[in-house]
Amino acid sequence: MQDFKVAIANCLKEKIEDLSLEEILGLIEIPPNKDMGDYAFPCFKLAKVFRKAPNMIASDLSETIEAKGDISKVMPMGGYVNFFVNKSQLANNVINDVLTQKDAYGHGKMGDGKTVVIDFSSPNIAKPFHIGHIRTTVIGNALYKIYDSQGYDTVRVNHLGDYGTQFGKLIVAFKLWGDKETVESNPIPELLKLYIRFHDEAEEKPEMEDEARAWFTKLENGDPEAKELWQWFRDESLKEFARVYDLLDIQFDSYNGESFYSDKMDTVIETIKEKGLLQESQGTNVVDLEAYNMPPALITKNDGSTLYMTRDLAAAVYRKNTYNFDKCIYVVGSQQALHFQQLFKVLELVGFEWAKDLIHVPFGMVALEEGTMSTRKGRVVFLEDVLKQAIEKTKETMLAKNPDAKNVDTIAKQVGVGAVVFQELSNSRIKDYTFSWERTLSFEGETGPYVQYTHARCCAVLRKANEEVTSDINYELLTNEDSVEVLKTIASFNKNIVSALNRNEPHIVTRFVLDLAQAFNKFYHDNPILVDDVEVRKARLALVAATRQTLENGLKLLGMHAPERM
Ligand code: ARG
Repeated sequence: MQDFKVAIANCLKEKIEDLSLEEILGLIEIPPNKDMGDYAFPCFKLAKVFRKAPNMIASDLSETIEAKGDISKVMPMGGYVNFFVNKSQLANNVINDVLTQKDAYGHGKMGDGKTVVIDFSSPNIAKPFHIGHIRTTVIGNALYKIYDSQGYDTVRVNHLGDYGTQFGKLIVAFKLWGDKETVESNPIPELLKLYIRFHDEAEEKPEMEDEARAWFTKLENGDPEAKELWQWFRDESLKEFARVYDLLDIQFDSYNGESFYSDKMDTVIETIKEKGLLQESQGTNVVDLEAYNMPPALITKNDGSTLYMTRDLAAAVYRKNTYNFDKCIYVVGSQQALHFQQLFKVLELVGFEWAKDLIHVPFGMVALEEGTMSTRKGRVVFLEDVLKQAIEKTKETMLAKNPDAKNVDTIAKQVGVGAVVFQELSNSRIKDYTFSWERTLSFEGETGPYVQYTHARCCAVLRKANEEVTSDINYELLTNEDSVEVLKTIASFNKNIVSALNRNEPHIVTRFVLDLAQAFNKFYHDNPILVDDVEVRKARLALVAATRQTLENGLKLLGMHAPERM
């Protein structure tokens, strides 16, 4: 479709000297309804230059632009010039592009030679991987796929929360009440229990807090007992996280979490000091940010211990030195917006010109629907349980529809997990939303299973046809309204991916696959495919194949599977 826009812009450029080709491209619109053509050029901006009313300009331009090649008709309407594209040419371009590029259809090169670091998921050790974490995990993974598809070198970093004073607390609690076997049988919930008990009891006995601080200092100084316990908490927690990542089919290039920077903070603190930015304030060291309307950034505490901020400063420098990124993206909830503003500002003040390439990609909160069940005790809903239940429910639905269905376990996993993932990516990131089982697992409406089902439907038609699909077809047969809608949607795939990338908004791709599924299902409903007329059948099968490929590519960008049967 991009080709048509460029062709139209070129025609216009010949007649309009005062605007550049880019300006003309920027002005071209898609008219609100199909009778008005496929593209429209507004003439309002030209009124001054041409000293004529916009509708006069539109009719003059329409008369002088010849309808040929990609353009089948040019027509003025009010202050617009409306363009109708050559529909068989559209079909020809789209079908050929998809069938030759296959898996790579939609991909691009805008990121060639560029590197993007994506910090996402980043759960906290010994704390539950709960439903709230799913957003960063799923959005981050989709962004990774989107950047990767446009040629970027990508580095997926899991900045684990595996350091900080809370580990002092956990050590104290474990030494008081813990038991190795109990923890190993059910690590995170058991560690969480210890942590909660510490807080309850420390309210009565504040000296426990001092003890916890002392243990964290021991840990920072490399005390063997502290280190061993910490390492064990970390290993046990990672085992649980790994199960969730396995279910989601998500991988990381680095698990360098906060602890990785324990010996890398001194240099950054030194640099901040050298620049004269570090100030003492009630025994702590801060960078004053009042001039930027922000509270001071706390760099070290009274006892010299470091903070989340200190480790993020070190991490940013390390990432720049190690990966030389063009962009470093942090997919973290909107509650941490101030933290990132402070972080980026401090790095900028220190004089790192690359501070401008750090981007916080925030997202809203996930609330739980009233009455949502948590299968384990406690107020949190564990992500692993959500995924497992989604798989279980999908399996039930599948078997109810078809008791002899094959590969039920694999497909139920792809569809159940896909349903949760898709739901996460259905709204613009920043919106808070309420998690609902019913919505997540519905096969109807704008859901993941609906799109996957449409893909499987394409596969079924192609299987049934059992004949070679080629692009050697009569494209005139794909010029009716239903076909054109599908073709135009497919043609907009790359444009949608690029806009998702530029805005770090995977839901643009979610919207795209839904639009394509809807357009295809309309086509499928009104245009029988496996008809006797060989020419018609061949043309329609080519459209089915192109739709199938594009749906598969789109689902993969979201981090979903595209099962062939459902
Ligand atoms: N562990 C943090 C949390 O769960 C998120 C870390 C995000 N990444 C970062 N570089 N700060 O809230």
